[in-house]
Amino acid sequence: MPALGLGTWMMGEHRRDRKKEVAAIALGLDLGMTLIDTAEMYGDGGAEEVVGEAIAGRREQVFVVSKVYPHNASRRGAVAACKRSLNRLDLYLLHWRGDIPLADTVDAFESLRRDGSIREWGVSNFDRADMEELFALPGGAHCAANQVMYHLACRGVEWDLLPFCREHQVAVMAYSPVGRGRLLRDRLLRDLAGELGVSTAQIALAWLLEQVGVSAIPKAASEAHVRDNRAAADLRLPASVLRELESAFPPPSRPNSLAIL
Ligand SMILES: NC(=O)c1ccc[n+]([C@@H]2O[C@H](COP(=O)([O-])OP(=O)(O)OC[C@H]3O[C@@H](n4cnc5c(N)ncnc54)[C@H](OP(=O)(O)O)[C@@H]3O)[C@@H](O)[C@H]2O)c1
Repeated sequence: MPALGLGTWMMGEHRRDRKKEVAAIALGLDLGMTLIDTAEMYGDGGAEEVVGEAIAGRREQVFVVSKVYPHNASRRGAVAACKRSLNRLDLYLLHWRGDIPLADTVDAFESLRRDGSIREWGVSNFDRADMEELFALPGGAHCAANQVMYHLACRGVEWDLLPFCREHQVAVMAYSPVGRGRLLRDRLLRDLAGELGVSTAQIALAWLLEQVGVSAIPKAASEAHVRDNRAAADLRLPASVLRELESAFPPPSRPNSLAIL
């Protein structure tokens, strides 16, 4: 999976924004951000439509991730929901855990994988205990990714989830990687950005991309933000900056519950 991608939450909600949103995704692809994250929930299917429009004619260059609602994640429901989503998804995720037994969802995902509808499947918002339960199920170890909230100011996953995912080769996709924009107002990030001559978003994203096995999917609806985020993939943070970030945003020192948006 590419390391730096494009989020689409809040896209596809209003017809009037569609052109701008399609253009933002198309620009991201032009700049090499070929991982796209969407969900049937976003814009009630509207975000998937925006993605479909933006990738038309270049499907082969793109890695598309979508997510099924927990209430659609039954043996038959997940298969039907996936067919409603884009054709031939690369990665299909359970958006979060619901009431449907996990074993039923895994059965559905495995059948979609076997018949070639999807390349891989995974989960989202799963903590360490959820992952252990999943891996104990038949086929559960085929889980390819876990999408969780992860950014400088939200490092709880490093306690026991990230180590589990690394050990089992489960890709971790960091959502809200710039803290939904709030992180970008942090004073230290602003000072460091000034010193390095880069943006605060680039520092936040470059830090995430330093973490082994982690990809990031910032959402940007404006072309300026897409360009800004793309530049993070080429930024290597100096050791002194990494040390400052480490002391201002320390890793967890005890178990914690998974942060969920
Ligand atoms: N699995 C899940 O449960 C889950 C939950 C949340 C999110 N996600 C996925 O993760 C993606 C990203 O997370 P998110 O949307 O919550 O938050 P985010 O990407 O951390 O932040 C998005 C916000 O930051 C702004 N922004 C982005 N790049 C910027 C830049 N370079 N400079 C200044 N502002 C910038 C965006 O503005 P503009 O839009 O105006 O450019 C938008 O307001 C979502 O779109 C979605 O695909 C998944």
